[in-house]
Amino acid sequence: MSATFAELWAEIAPIGRVANGYERYALQEPELVLRDWFRNQAARRDMPVTDDGNGNLFAWWGGQWGHDAVLTGSHFDSVPHGGGYDGPLGIVSGFLAVDELRRRGHVPRRPIAVVAFVDEEGGRFGLPCLGSRLLTGAIEPETAAALTDREGVTFGEALGTTPAGRLPGLTSRIGALIELHIEQGRALEVPVGVASAIWPHGRWRFDFTGHGDHAGTTRMADRRDPMLTFAYTVLAANKEARLAGAHATVARVEVEPNATNAIPSLVRGWLDARAAETNTLDGLVEAVIKRAYDRAARDGVEVSVTNESFSQEVSFETSLAARISELLGHAPILPTGAGHDAGVLSAHVPTAMLFVRNPTGVSHSPAEHAEEADCVEGIQALARVLLDLT
Ligand code: GLV
Ligand code: MN
Ligand code: MN
Ligand code: MN
Repeated sequence: MSATFAELWAEIAPIGRVANGYERYALQEPELVLRDWFRNQAARRDMPVTDDGNGNLFAWWGGQWGHDAVLTGSHFDSVPHGGGYDGPLGIVSGFLAVDELRRRGHVPRRPIAVVAFVDEEGGRFGLPCLGSRLLTGAIEPETAAALTDREGVTFGEALGTTPAGRLPGLTSRIGALIELHIEQGRALEVPVGVASAIWPHGRWRFDFTGHGDHAGTTRMADRRDPMLTFAYTVLAANKEARLAGAHATVARVEVEPNATNAIPSLVRGWLDARAAETNTLDGLVEAVIKRAYDRAARDGVEVSVTNESFSQEVSFETSLAARISELLGHAPILPTGAGHDAGVLSAHVPTAMLFVRNPTGVSHSPAEHAEEADCVEGIQALARVLLDLT
């Protein structure tokens, strides 16, 4: 099997493409087609595919679930109207790195698996890194099974079973994970870099409940309009994040009844907050919540806040990152504010990430892009790292 990056990329590029970017949601049509593509690629390379019972797929070279396996891969799913590189680049690169090692006649001393994790973005079931959380036992299978998508379908229903949960013998069976990913900011100025850390981050749902009423007949003084409290909270989050040197985003909102001529009865908004340090993040979220409650009291609105996900600060193993950087001719080592399955696995096994340059830094957007030459360089770098580890 010998394919070029351009050939494999052309195969997956149309899958899940919509007028504005990509819509690839976990275990739904376009993502299912990508999972079939994964099985097909594996078969073309005589790599047996196993599934861990959590929706994560593994294509094996040199033994299955033996001891100390080295995993490489990422995820197929996207955010709504996302880019094509965030996730799939790591999986395509995994297969091509295997091809490269075989071309060089490499015989791995320990199993290598290309992995596709399920619902990394949380775009369907709301919780990011669902597959890696299940694999590592960071979420109970029953809790994961009960997560619902926007149509009310549960993860358990989509998977067809209750997930299996933590892989028995996880830390002896998985020796390392190397995830290659498009860089999602503007910090990387050469084709390939190495991750040092992931900012702690999380999602908080704010429910603002007021009083629905007629837009034309309700006096301004008589209103209990949750949209006002919501709008104030969005501005407060932005201001607090700027003051803290952190990031706060409100990008998803639901309104009831969502009619032009009715004062809303409910506004539900999701805060995504991230900071370089946990203390800063905690302080930021606390400040936003306090300001929401203070404002709600003035507006006659009720507020409730639910933390829907939290990802701890991740420091990738310094010695592994340094060794990889060295191996790649002193590749730069940089932190990121984006979450990854590698971050979840890093609490259990040696983990590293390679970043491929993103010329504009734009991601989670149709404008996300990496140059073909940089992707090819990323694949060569991944092959070098796998050669060293196996
Ligand atoms: C996932 O990509 C995230 O960082 O939100
Ligand atoms: Mn992403
Ligand atoms: Mn990603
Ligand atoms: Mn991510």
